[in-house]
Parts: sequence; structure tokens; C-alpha cells
Amino acid sequence: MKATILYASMTGNDEEIANILISDFNQSGVATELKEIDEADVKDFDASDICIIVTYTYDDGDIPEEALDLYDDLDHYDLSNKIFGVCGSGDTCYGDFCMAVDKFEKRLLTTGAQKGADSVKIELYPEEEDKEKLMQFVQSIVNSAQTMLDKLQHN
Ligand SMILES: Cc1cc2nc3c(=O)[nH]c(=O)nc-3n(C[C@H](O)[C@H](O)[C@H](O)COP(=O)(O)O)c2cc1C
Repeated sequence: MKATILYASMTGNDEEIANILISDFNQSGVATELKEIDEADVKDFDASDICIIVTYTYDDGDIPEEALDLYDDLDHYDLSNKIFGVCGSGDTCYGDFCMAVDKFEKRLLTTGAQKGADSVKIELYPEEEDKEKLMQFVQSIVNSAQTMLDKLQHN
């Protein structure tokens, strides 16, 4: 089983979230690949069972500029037989808290990939309680991916 994590981070909060996810996936025996979103291509997801986006939110609930190409390319891209998950950091001082997370979730639903866990939204830097949520997020995704792979094997 393999997970690819694509992340956008300006001041490091989402990079830290991505690193926590890597550690959690590795603990579950899942191989991981990590890439910054501006160096990533939608094809990076092709060889993975698990597709993860980690993103901050900018301006009025916008997707970061460096994530826009990937966001566009994901539109109806075929990611069937894959599991996805989205998480990210935001700031509740802004009206549209972590809206980029919601936007990516919606976009990934157009790809045929199956949502493996509820999206996780984190206030700025991930604290202990957030780490717990991220661990549950990864567990749920790994379980969903295992179920999907078992089904595919039996078909
Ligand atoms: C100009 C600006 C606009 C922002 N707009 C939003 C927003 O609309 N919603 C939100 O939840 N956070 C917003 N944020 C907060 C960032 O998403 C937050 O600081 C996040 O932790 C940054 O993640 P990073 O450290 O990975 O870059 C904004 C930050 C800046 C500087």
C-alpha cells in the first residue's frame, strides 16, 4: 500500500502536518511519498492507493496560488480505485476557516476516488489534540484502503 502526500505551506504549519501524516502512515506500514504542491503533478497520484492533500487557505477562503494548477488538473481526473483524504491549517480569525480544505475535498469527489476519512482542519500549528485527530484520520484512511484493495482482489 502506498500514500502520496502533496502539500502547500507558506509558513510551515502544513509542512508539519504533512510530516506528522508521514510518520503515522509509516507506523501503519504504509509507504509514503511527499511532494510540495508546486512541484507536483496530478500524475503523482497514479501509482498510489492513497491520495492526500494538505493545504493552507489564503485570502478570502482561497486555494493557495501554487496549488491552483493541481486543483484545475484534478477536475474529473480518473482516480477511481483510490482513497483520498484532505487536511490543512487555517486561522479562525478569517471568515472562511480552512475553506481550501473543503474546496479540495469537493474537487477530489469528481475523480471517482473514495473519501477515506472526514477532512481535518487545524488552527495554525498542530498541537497534541490535533496529532490525535491526524492519527485517527490516517487510521480511517488505511482501513478504507485495505477494504478497497481486498475487494479489488476478489473481483
Ligand atoms: C493574507 C492571508 C489570508 C488568509 N486567509 C485565510 C482564510 O481565508 N481562511 C483561513 O482559514 N486562514 C487564512 N489564513 C491563515 C493561514 O491559512 C494560516 O496561517 C495557515 O496556518 C498557514 O499555513 P502554513 O504555515 O502551512 O503556510 C490567511 C493568512 C494570510 C497571511
